[in-house]
Amino acid sequence: MKETVVSGIRPTGKLHLGNYFGAVANFVKMQHDYNCYFFIADLHSLTTHPTPSDLHGYVKHILVEYLACGINPEETTIYVQSDVPEVAELYLYLNMNAYLGELERSASFKDKIRSHPDNVNAGLLTYPTLMAADILIHRATKVPVGKDQEQHLEMTRTFSNRFNRLYNNDFFPEAQAYNFSQNLVKIPGLDGSGKMSKSSGDGNCIYLSDSPEVIRKKISRAVTDGGPAEENQAKPEAIQNLFDLMKIVSTPDTLTHFDELYSKMSIRYGDFKKQLAEDMIVFNTPIREKIEDLSKDTVYLRQVAKHGALKARESAHKTIKAVREIIGFKSF
Ligand code: ADP
Ligand code: TRP
Repeated sequence: MKETVVSGIRPTGKLHLGNYFGAVANFVKMQHDYNCYFFIADLHSLTTHPTPSDLHGYVKHILVEYLACGINPEETTIYVQSDVPEVAELYLYLNMNAYLGELERSASFKDKIRSHPDNVNAGLLTYPTLMAADILIHRATKVPVGKDQEQHLEMTRTFSNRFNRLYNNDFFPEAQAYNFSQNLVKIPGLDGSGKMSKSSGDGNCIYLSDSPEVIRKKISRAVTDGGPAEENQAKPEAIQNLFDLMKIVSTPDTLTHFDELYSKMSIRYGDFKKQLAEDMIVFNTPIREKIEDLSKDTVYLRQVAKHGALKARESAHKTIKAVREIIGFKSF
């Protein structure tokens, strides 16, 4: 029996290199060896009240981008979360055993209180139980995500273990966050600090759908400094971030070349950025071209979503049926 894998991304924008290397690249690699479910987390995105047309547009975007990155819908179950109502049912059950104190302590909840004090809704508070429902609905053991999701996975384990203890069984397995490189990754952004994230603005992100001109412009504006002040000095964060990006898109020789120039204080940031931009363009061009083609193929997209929903519901139904029995819902 293959191990089961689940992951999803909220449809709140286009995918960037952080989403790719933190999550989607792992989806693509895992699909051959695992029983995979990759979904579009549209229920989660309702916490920020998107308009119906924005919501639909972004769901389509993520579906197209999953396919363009190489997720094969014949091999993998790709679906839209809201097409599987069993997830919402499991979310309700899990909420009965999720405590206010632990939900309030979640780092992402605290972040949201800080960034959107005017919209602290119950959906934000219970975001981790909905995420646990996504994972447990297929009884998954591996969850490919970036480093920022580690705490959510810890909470998923708390909820599944608590459910098992309450009903004195071992129905739900323990799910672990996963990355192919052994460690969970955090891809830096272009603004000199922190991770690549949509919430830090378009200038901070390289999107998979960015054209060569846009990539060149964004990289040329990436934050740098006045250059190294002494030989072999440690790199400040903004510079290290650009080297980290070079590490993921350029060859090891290119990276070593610029590393040596930096150590010898003879690096020219203009040349360094030009090389970084060109290597990013080489990386993203095949994906961008596929995005452009697939976006036009509505019939195919509809077929993929429909097929995925059927397969996901089949698995979800089995779990919900068992959970209902465990809880004690019995028909007369
Ligand atoms: P964003 O921060 O742009 O809103 P999301 O929070 O929607 O991105 O993340 C979707 C997925 O991509 C998650 O699995 C997350 O861990 C991963 N991810 C996002 N940004 C990064 C990053 N900079 N480095 C690694 N993984 C990331
Ligand atoms: N919370 C994840 C994010 O912000 C998205 C997500 C929702 C998810 N449900 C999930 C990821 C289940 C993995 C498994 O990126």
